[in-house]
Amino acid sequence: MQNRAKKQAYLHELFGFNTPVKGFEDPIPVFAEKTAFVPDVNPDFVFDKDMVGRVLRSYGARENIMLTGEKGTGKTTFVQQFCARLNIPLMTICGGPGLDESYLMGGKTIEASSVKSVDGLISYCLRWGINILIDEIAAIKPSVLVSINDVLNGDQTITLKHHGLDPSKSPVDLVDQEGSLSITRHKAFRLFACDNTGGKVNKDPRYAGVMVQNTAVRSRFTCFRMGFMHPALELKALTNIVGEKLPVSLAKQMIELAMRVRAAFEIGEMYDTLSFRELKRWASKSLVYGSLEDEIIPGAERKLIPDVHNGFVDAVYTGMEESDQDMVRQLFELVFNTTLSLPNEYKNTSTEFLKLLDSEELNWDFAA
Ligand SMILES: Nc1ncnc2c1ncn2[C@@H]1O[C@H](COP(=O)(O)OP(=O)(O)O)[C@@H](O)[C@H]1O
Ligand SMILES: [Mg+2]
Repeated sequence: MQNRAKKQAYLHELFGFNTPVKGFEDPIPVFAEKTAFVPDVNPDFVFDKDMVGRVLRSYGARENIMLTGEKGTGKTTFVQQFCARLNIPLMTICGGPGLDESYLMGGKTIEASSVKSVDGLISYCLRWGINILIDEIAAIKPSVLVSINDVLNGDQTITLKHHGLDPSKSPVDLVDQEGSLSITRHKAFRLFACDNTGGKVNKDPRYAGVMVQNTAVRSRFTCFRMGFMHPALELKALTNIVGEKLPVSLAKQMIELAMRVRAAFEIGEMYDTLSFRELKRWASKSLVYGSLEDEIIPGAERKLIPDVHNGFVDAVYTGMEESDQDMVRQLFELVFNTTLSLPNEYKNTSTEFLKLLDSEELNWDFAA
């Protein structure tokens, strides 16, 4: 990871923009080659220009960067693709209640009957100049994060806590032990974090299972809020991912429905939003469930007609809260000018079966 070759490049070209990012009109030095742990470029990812500029400035200032926002707004992927475009090595770990200090900063282990010190994920990255992304950071116990305040502070030397001190060693000898007792922070090391709540006190009940984080920990991050994409960017991202088979007019209607759900959420009429992740799944499923149009001219290529109804039900509708389902059916009708057609499992209620039975219309040969 030392002395990697650099090249000059235009930021906007690396991130797929046609025009320069404000403040980065001239070429900047970036790593020339992809090395170990540099994420693969996903050419379909669509960046917000303003956000790229601000995150890069924060990165340049060696700040810890936290992205917060609704599910599926691209927080995790943004960090990974940011690093991919700049050839920055990145290790991603996902937070959880079992993640402790030794997992992050190392500890002792037994190997071949002797005790050996090993690094944790953060201490290894600090040593080697790999960036780290702690995803879902608020799922980590607050005291564990407090214990890495020295890392979050940007301290140049981090003293590892799991090493006992040999009482016979003089302080001068101890200092020479650098590399095991303490770590000198590699200049390329950076810490990213993502979270829905940002570890704030007022938690949204939709994001159960995360913890309120210590304010001193939170104050050590520069936070960026990832919102929903501009509809035009969302259309571009959707088209990039699912391809030409999805007619643009249909993609626009899908995005319109997502916007209407989000707007209803904003004014408290719906319990949850509709993320890009779900939108993407809806679009892909609509194509998978689609059917070919009737053959009009013999031998001519038949167009695929996406099935937005079944695609929507499986990708979005069934997972929604019941009250949101009622609301989204109305929004669906408004956007597509037709009622949402629900598959059999919604129609096959016992009441319906009884009605058929009572009117002697129940088909007992159905299973034949
Ligand atoms: N701007 C974008 N361009 C292309 N794909 C995106 C974009 N934002 C999100 N996605 C896709 O949507 C899905 C959810 O993104 P993710 O980064 O997991 O969201 P979050 O971390 O905010 O929950 C991923 O498959 C991701 O690739
Ligand atoms: Mg995420």
